[in-house]
Amino acid sequence: MAGAFLRARALSKSFRGLRAVSDVSFDVPAGAIHALIGPNGAGKTTTFNIVAGVFAPDAGGVTLDGVELVGKRPEDICRAGVGRTFQIVKPFRGMSVQENVAVGALRWTSNTREARDYAADTLALLGLADKRAMSPDHITLPDRKRLEVARALATKPRLLLLDEVMAGLRPTETDAMVATFQKLNADTGVTILLIEHVMRAVMALSQRVVVLNHGEKICEGAPADVVRDPAVLECYLGEPAPHA
Ligand SMILES: Nc1ncnc2c1ncn2[C@@H]1O[C@H](COP(=O)(O)OP(=O)(O)OP(=O)(O)O)[C@@H](O)[C@H]1O
Ligand SMILES: [Mg+2]
Repeated sequence: MAGAFLRARALSKSFRGLRAVSDVSFDVPAGAIHALIGPNGAGKTTTFNIVAGVFAPDAGGVTLDGVELVGKRPEDICRAGVGRTFQIVKPFRGMSVQENVAVGALRWTSNTREARDYAADTLALLGLADKRAMSPDHITLPDRKRLEVARALATKPRLLLLDEVMAGLRPTETDAMVATFQKLNADTGVTILLIEHVMRAVMALSQRVVVLNHGEKICEGAPADVVRDPAVLECYLGEPAPHA
């Protein structure tokens, strides 16, 4: 099918016999915002890790703009235009917030002043301008999530993979981050795939949602349809259900 910017084809990945991701396929067109949802342990982060080159899949492939990513190293996938955040935030501890973001910009410039300036602009975009000089150890968890986003954005990705970056934010903070992503997407055309439990954000941001459960894709569609799908509602039984 033409038009897919990111294409995952029949991805499977097992860990010691556990099928973490099982025959998962999906497409994300250029410039779109799509979401990947599902209960804890559904295989969402593993799917991201396959796209980002952290794990090779046991089977299947991933293309970005027609170029195969499976087999490439994470740094080469970053250079190909994939920026990702980590669910468990991993800032460089000996560096300031701004230096952490400047490291991302050094992917496309060797001019450290340009990298620092770009980092400052990116931090301002995420409401972190006044935390620039601080250590990542001394900012709150929601701010560390914003820092993760800034670090990924500073690489100037064509595809941005966001892993639960709105977890722990207050509703007004969630709305602010949603607006930031909408503006970024409109201004730069960056394609976004987000993993998110905060349905308020999923509903507001994504045109299409893929639902995983026990590693399998159980549903795909518009957000309003997906949250009414019986199989989706059932897989959330005994878990915090998707909520607005
Ligand atoms: N590196 C690993 N080694 C072994 N098992 C793993 C590894 N990474 C993930 N798993 C297992 O694979 C399954 C899917 O995990 P994954 O992190 O992809 O889920 P998730 O959908 O991101 O869940 P959550 O919403 O809790 O973040 C889980 O059973 C998990 O324990
Ligand atoms: Mg996860």
